[in-house]
Amino acid sequence: MSNKVPSTSETTVAVVGLGLLGRGIATCLLGNGFRVIGYDRSSESHAVARRYIEQGIGELIEHANFDPSLKQTWKDRYQEPQCFDDFQPCDFVIESIVEDAQIKQEVYEQIEKVIGPAVPIASNTSAIPITQLQKTCKHPERFLGMHWAEPAHATRFLELIRGPQTSDETVEVAVSLARRCGKDPVVLAKDSPGFIVNRLAYAMYREALQLVEEGVADVETIDRSFRNACGLWATMCGPFRWMDLTGGPALYAKAMKPVLPTLNNATELPETMRRLAENNAQGIRNGQVYDYTPEQAEQAEALFRKHAWNVRRLMDEYFPPEEL
Ligand SMILES: NC(=O)c1ccc[n+]([C@@H]2O[C@H](COP(=O)([O-])OP(=O)(O)OC[C@H]3O[C@@H](n4cnc5c(N)ncnc54)[C@H](O)[C@@H]3O)[C@@H](O)[C@H]2O)c1
Repeated sequence: MSNKVPSTSETTVAVVGLGLLGRGIATCLLGNGFRVIGYDRSSESHAVARRYIEQGIGELIEHANFDPSLKQTWKDRYQEPQCFDDFQPCDFVIESIVEDAQIKQEVYEQIEKVIGPAVPIASNTSAIPITQLQKTCKHPERFLGMHWAEPAHATRFLELIRGPQTSDETVEVAVSLARRCGKDPVVLAKDSPGFIVNRLAYAMYREALQLVEEGVADVETIDRSFRNACGLWATMCGPFRWMDLTGGPALYAKAMKPVLPTLNNATELPETMRRLAENNAQGIRNGQVYDYTPEQAEQAEALFRKHAWNVRRLMDEYFPPEEL
């Protein structure tokens, strides 16, 4: 690996898995001038990804002042190969397939046969430890976690996770790529299942389910309460800044202490979640928590995309990218 940072148009990134996250990652890279090899085993995912990229590029032009010529130029930088053999020219690989360690590791084995030994491989896993994923790699030092969030072309978020075998050089290349994608990357000091945001989120989801199971409030009431409270501050603050702005740890310690023994610390999935998962509840696709007509599902997605861009605008105002 060289320290010279090539121009984005000279850098080819393979995105493996063009599902919900992968197609947004591809959009982000194409929007920022990279060459992209988009690979998925399903031809349907390819077709959906192309439509998504088209729309996402339009959003970058409309909401983030990207050059209108992008509407045409991304197509010249995008390839959809049929097999891993075409990964040969890659400078970076981002894997975003199904959340299953064994399937991911089988894919790394295939990719490592084709790409150069120093080309970084990043996994967009939500929660599988990088320590575990890199164990079976032929060159574990070039492997790291790169955790994106939906919609991947609009958010600033990117967690970079090093495993014990990840080299400093690999992390440096990933940070450079993240910045060239307009991200505000964070590098974790060490690996931990679920990393930062999913550890915080899973604790919160578990507690939300407990409130429902205890009959304290229904789903809609909990959602309303959460968005009116955390929805206000979470764009500007993390939990520590928020505590500081509202009395500080001394006050929180007093309020928290008697509540802590009543919070959920179960190590098994909450019953409600287990049941929903067994029923294959896939959110807006087959609503089992909330009901959705196809139009309502579409509206919810459209509102979320609009919201993401509004938040991005606020963040750019409060924390200008050039000051990060
Ligand atoms: N959904 C989220 O909000 C989110 C956020 C961050 C990270 N992630 C992680 O990103 C990864 C992908 O999640 P998603 O929500 O995009 O899933 P998804 O089911 O929408 O997409 C997965 C895609 O991978 C393809 N795929 C599966 N196995 C493959 C293989 N062996 N080779 C090539 N393609 C294959 C599927 O055809 C599908 O298009 C997971 O590891 C997930 O945990 C998801």
